[in-house]
Amino acid sequence: MHRQAFTAALLTAGSAFAAPAPQASGAPAAEIACPIVFDGRVPVGTEPTFFDTYATNTIFNPDYVKGNDLKWSEILQFPAVESSRFDGEEHTPLEVTLSDKSIFMQQNGFRRAGLQFLRDSPDGAGTTGIKTLHFSVKQDPERPLNLTHEYLNVWHEAADYSSNQIQFQIGSLIGKSSADKNNFKILDRNGRSLYSVAMDQTNWQNFAITLNYERNQVQIYYSVGNEPLKSVAGPTSVNIAGGGQFQMGMLKKPTGTSDVVNSGYQSRNLNEGQIYGGLFLEDSAGGCVSL
Ligand SMILES: *[C@@H]1O[C@H](CO)[C@@H](O)[C@H](O)[C@H]1NC(C)=O
Repeated sequence: MHRQAFTAALLTAGSAFAAPAPQASGAPAAEIACPIVFDGRVPVGTEPTFFDTYATNTIFNPDYVKGNDLKWSEILQFPAVESSRFDGEEHTPLEVTLSDKSIFMQQNGFRRAGLQFLRDSPDGAGTTGIKTLHFSVKQDPERPLNLTHEYLNVWHEAADYSSNQIQFQIGSLIGKSSADKNNFKILDRNGRSLYSVAMDQTNWQNFAITLNYERNQVQIYYSVGNEPLKSVAGPTSVNIAGGGQFQMGMLKKPTGTSDVVNSGYQSRNLNEGQIYGGLFLEDSAGGCVSL
């Protein structure tokens, strides 16, 4: 047997025994108090291949945004970790991974894999009124991110692709000091910092971002583990006009280039991942936010 194939077979067999079937555990789900606009929560027991085609995937867009030669069932992992607070016992965490094959279209500078809500459209419900995006993140010690690089981890990209109205990031932002590379940072489309908090290597970190499209205002909520969310920033004026779509996953920028989309350095044999949970967009009309 070819040595690489042999190793792969061993790893596969090993993980099949070591990792229990994905199961939620622990505390009951925190209550979602407002109408859900887009639900990105994944029911426990969902098969990885569910994510690969429109015929089965009722949660996310099966075709975007990912490596040309990869299926979502090859990108997503279902780590056996306790679920995040808005997932509770019925929904499972999912891990978005990056590898050398995570090249979308001809974008050779980036490594990316970002989930889009199936029904999110550039001028749709995610871009009007008052909406709150919820997401929780957790780190996988076996697939650490390389914080020498700049990552987008959740963002809303404008319909004309010219900017991201809001971006949740980690790592060393290109052109800025790397002193805060271990911090998650929430920035506006001009790179203005709205909130920053250190990456937690152990616990779930829960975020919610209220986008008030009527007033061009943003408010940010945060908590750790099972704690209720608390407002940590805003409401503050932010230009969130321009429509577009949410993306939840990773876009890793290269180093050493001014043309980040097409060139620059990415180290080989990438095996990076970040665990996501409690993904949903809710309607915050009248000030409703699930805490
Ligand atoms: C992290 O990224 C830098 C810059 O690309 C690279 O030199 C270094 O080898 C990477 N570290 C790891 C552990 O991959």
